[in-house]
Amino acid sequence: MGKITAAITGVAGYLPDYILTNEELSTIVDTSDEWITSRTGIKERRIMKNGASSDMSVEAVRALLEKTNTKPEEVDLVIVGTVTPDYPFPSTSNVLCDKLGLKNAWGYDLIAACSGFIYGISTGAQFIETGRYKKVIVVGVDKMSSIIDYQDRTTCVIFGDGAGAVMLEPNEEGLGIQDFILHADGSGREYLLQPAGGSLNPASHETVDQRMHFVKQEGKQVFKFAVTNMAEVSAQIMEKNNLSSEDVDWLVPHQANLRIIDATANRMGLPKEKVMINIQKYGNTTAGTLPLCLWDYEKQLKKGDNLILSAFGGGFTWGAVYIKWAYNS
Ligand code: UT7
Repeated sequence: MGKITAAITGVAGYLPDYILTNEELSTIVDTSDEWITSRTGIKERRIMKNGASSDMSVEAVRALLEKTNTKPEEVDLVIVGTVTPDYPFPSTSNVLCDKLGLKNAWGYDLIAACSGFIYGISTGAQFIETGRYKKVIVVGVDKMSSIIDYQDRTTCVIFGDGAGAVMLEPNEEGLGIQDFILHADGSGREYLLQPAGGSLNPASHETVDQRMHFVKQEGKQVFKFAVTNMAEVSAQIMEKNNLSSEDVDWLVPHQANLRIIDATANRMGLPKEKVMINIQKYGNTTAGTLPLCLWDYEKQLKKGDNLILSAFGGGFTWGAVYIKWAYNS
C-alpha cells in the first residue's frame, strides 16, 4: 500500500443573506466607499442578524455531507477554526456535531484567528495520514459582527460573517496536502486582540463600558507584519517544494486586504489570474476566508492543480499549505 495523504474531497460554504454595503456603513461611521475600496478592496460583507457560528457551520457542513455522499455517522472528527465560538465552552464543534447528528465524531475548536483554517487542515491531515481516521471535517467560521465595534471605523469596515468547510479523506495517488509551514508569535497579541471576555479580563461592567469585548487592531502594525510574513512564508513553501511560479496553479490567500494579497502574489511571481479573490463580496471573515475562496473557485479547479494556501492573523499566527487538488468538479 502506498503512502496515505490527506486530500480535500469536497468543499461547501454558507453566507448569511444580509449584505452590509460600504454605502450603508458610511451612514453608521465616518467613512466612504472610496476609502474602503481603495484601502482594502472591500465593497460589501455579509452579516448574520440572528444565530451563532454553529448555525453557519451547520449549513456549510450539511451541504458538504450531501455533496460528498457522507452519512452523519461516518464522520470521525470535526475541527472548527473560530474566534467567535457560540460559547467559551462547550466547543462549537460539540454543538455542531449535536445539531447535525454526527454521533460517532468528536472534535474541538481551534483558536488561530485568520490562520484557523490552515492550522485546522494541517492538524486534521495528521489523523488521516496515520491511518487512524477516514473522514475529518475542517470548518473555518466566524461571526465577526458579534465582536466588532460598529463605532470604530478602523475595524468595522473590514470584517464580515461566513463559514466554509472541507472534507479530508485518505488518498493513495499522492494528491492532497503535501506540506505546510506554520508559525506563531504571541508577542503580536498587543496589535490585534479581543481584550476582554477571557480569564485575564472577565466580563464586568467596566469591561463592557470600556468596549473591551470588541476587536482592537492597530491596523498599520498588523499590515506591516502581514505583508512581510505572508509573502515570505508563501515563497518559502514554494522553494522548499521546488515549485516555480509556473508550477503553482492557484494562490489561495487570506482575504484581509487586497494590497496584502497583491504583495504576496508579486513575491511568488504569480499573475492575477492565478489568485483567488472574493474580498470585494465578503470582506474579512477571519477563519472563513480560505474555505470560502475554495468554494467560490471550486469549479475552476482541476485534479492535480498545485494550490498554495496562505494566511496571516491575530496572535500573530501565519503560514502556508501546499495542496495538490484531488478532484474535478
Ligand atoms: O486578518 C487579520 C489581519 N489583519 C490585517 O491584515 C489588517 C491589516 N491592516 C490593514 O489592512 C490596514 O492597516 C487597514 C485597512 C486596517 C487601514 O488602512 P491603512 O492604509 O493602514 O490606514 P491607516 O490606519 O494608516 O489610516 C489612514 C487614515 C487615518 O487618518 P489620518 O490619521 O491619516 O488622518 C485614519 O484615521 O485613514 C483613516 N481611516 C479611515 N478613514 C475613512 C481609518 N479607517 C478609516 C475608514 N474610513 N474606515
